[in-house]
Amino acid sequence: MRATTALLPLLSGLPAVLSLSGSLDTRASTASQPMNLQFNSYDNAWVDPQYVLSKNWNDTTVVAQQTIVEWADNLNAQGPWSVTTSKPFNASSGDPHDYLSWAPYWFPDCSNVHNTTALTDEQIWVTCPYVSKDGQFNPDRLLVNNTGAFDALSNAVLYNSMAWVINGSSTYPEQVATQIKTWFLDDATRMNPNLNYAQVIRGPPGSQFGSHTGVLDLKGMAKLTSGILILRQGKAPAWTSDIDTGLVAWANTYIQWLTTSDIALGEANSTNNHGSYYYNQLASLQILVNDLTGANATVQKYFSTLYQNQILASGEQVCPLLRAACPLEAVRTRPYHYRSYNLAAMITNARIGAYLGFDAWNLTTATGGTIHAALDFALAAKPDPDGLSEPYQSAGAVASVYGDAQGKYAAFLAQNEPAYPKEPWFFWYQPLSDSGWVRANVGNTTSTSSGGGGSSGTQSKNGAARVGVCTLAAVAAGVVGSLVAFLV
Ligand SMILES: *[C@@H]1O[C@H](CO)[C@@H](O)[C@H](O)[C@H]1NC(C)=O
Ligand SMILES: *[C@@H]1O[C@H](CO)[C@@H](O)[C@H](O)[C@H]1NC(C)=O
Ligand SMILES: *[C@@H]1O[C@H](CO)[C@@H](O)[C@H](O)[C@H]1NC(C)=O
Ligand SMILES: *[C@@H]1O[C@H](CO)[C@@H](O)[C@H](O)[C@H]1NC(C)=O
Ligand SMILES: *[C@@H]1O[C@H](CO)[C@@H](O)[C@H](O)[C@H]1NC(C)=O
Ligand SMILES: *[C@@H]1O[C@H](CO)[C@@H](O)[C@H](O)[C@H]1NC(C)=O
Ligand SMILES: *[C@@H]1O[C@H](CO)[C@@H](O)[C@H](O)[C@H]1NC(C)=O
Ligand SMILES: *[C@@H]1O[C@H](CO)[C@@H](O)[C@H](O)[C@H]1NC(C)=O
Ligand SMILES: *[C@@H]1O[C@H](CO)[C@@H](O)[C@H](O)[C@H]1NC(C)=O
Repeated sequence: MRATTALLPLLSGLPAVLSLSGSLDTRASTASQPMNLQFNSYDNAWVDPQYVLSKNWNDTTVVAQQTIVEWADNLNAQGPWSVTTSKPFNASSGDPHDYLSWAPYWFPDCSNVHNTTALTDEQIWVTCPYVSKDGQFNPDRLLVNNTGAFDALSNAVLYNSMAWVINGSSTYPEQVATQIKTWFLDDATRMNPNLNYAQVIRGPPGSQFGSHTGVLDLKGMAKLTSGILILRQGKAPAWTSDIDTGLVAWANTYIQWLTTSDIALGEANSTNNHGSYYYNQLASLQILVNDLTGANATVQKYFSTLYQNQILASGEQVCPLLRAACPLEAVRTRPYHYRSYNLAAMITNARIGAYLGFDAWNLTTATGGTIHAALDFALAAKPDPDGLSEPYQSAGAVASVYGDAQGKYAAFLAQNEPAYPKEPWFFWYQPLSDSGWVRANVGNTTSTSSGGGGSSGTQSKNGAARVGVCTLAAVAAGVVGSLVAFLV
């Protein structure tokens, strides 16, 4: 059963597109009215808190700053989130505080259950064995949405923390405090610190436990920790020592689970993207609990073991295509997605390493591959018909480290997502060319809404005036087609 479980392609590997309620209004609007803004939840991200707190930002990031504030506002209109709310099912433990998700590609096989037609849904879920159907989503999985809730929480914590530094309003850290207390600490709504019921494969009693693949559901810990460090190091008043202590205690218990349970160790053993994400989830949490030595060891273990067999000298990643060498990937039908997806995790691991003073960017794999080469290979590959924008933020990350002397990455971005400088990632992957987009477009906006000027004041040195929230929403709506990957 364990071998079969490992074949599971990963739902959380697909970028979530959050569709927020409210009507699109490009005229002046009140700040409290959420607009119809879709946005991309990046696969993975690590932001150095000192970069954010320094306020030493390039003026070209003014539009990205505005997007960050707007996304924070929109997310706040949706939260706070908890594993206990909107939960028509409890885990088989019966405890609503247990995080629950179902393995997305698994379906009941009732062929050996003779009275199928008489079975209710509830009987089917616990009577028929479940089997994997590659690439087909079981719609049942949407009945429980702890996964979407945590993803939203991790984005909210990241964007609110940055919005606080950008905008200065105490609202943003106050929102984070409420969101963290609700998810992790309050008696009524807290999550138990384990993933014993993540990506559960349903079926007869005895089989309703989590799969190791479900550990990936909390990959947002890298984003969440980045946000918390901004509030902690920036001494946000709403980030009290009580909340900090409570979250650290939760994280310490969860780290214990993440480093000792069979489920978590199965994930740590995964040679593909699951392993890559495991390491940055763990390293982030170790940083969160101030165990920098442990985090350093975690990142270095990733680069000295798993990473060594992930990239070929050509830049191709071993798992997505070399199926003979990597049979667990044989069911993977989207190599473009999985290349980009693992790349995001490798980059996050390198960025966490840099935060800790360990330079992983130039490390080669056993066969001479590098992250840089893996990006170039991923960008050159034929995209999925879905028009995935996944590798764009990775292009920004790599260009910000290695430079872009030939303008190759800027040209790629300008061609595929001309408005890329409005993406939040453009704010934290610097220096990076804006291909003239900021200068060409910001002055055209007419709104006088404030926010997003950052430290540069109302008029930036390159002539970029502040842009209004709603004007920006219109701009964002224009490019959202390229961001939408999967609406599942
Ligand atoms: C989940 O457990 C809680 C606490 O025992 C209970 O109140 C709730 O009704 C349960 N939910 C379902 C769907 O059974
Ligand atoms: C059908 O089979 C299930 C499982 O064996 C049993 O629980 C259920 O009572 C049966 N239903 C009918 C109508 O016989
Ligand atoms: C799951 O939760 C997220 C975050 O709240 C939400 O955006 C999404 O629409 C939800 N999905 C479903 C199917 O309910
Ligand atoms: C992880 O891999 C090691 C080495 O192959 C193996 O000894 C160990 O049993 C594995 N652990 C789990 C939990 O799968
Ligand atoms: C992490 O490891 C690197 C390389 O060994 C070392 O230079 C750095 O000081 C370490 N950082 C921390 C926080 O321990
Ligand atoms: C990594 O490689 C880049 C590009 O060759 C180089 O500029 C940089 O100095 C290297 N960094 C380290 C730490 O070796
Ligand atoms: C800001 O970014 C632009 C475009 O990459 C670059 O030309 C300029 O030197 C940067 N300015 C600073 C102060 O880093
Ligand atoms: C912004 O204004 C410049 C100069 O008038 C013009 O060339 C450019 O096309 C405008 N951009 C948009 C998006 O309207
Ligand atoms: C922060 O946002 C609020 C609400 O939109 C706005 O009134 C205020 O001027 C902004 N502050 C800054 C410094 O941008």
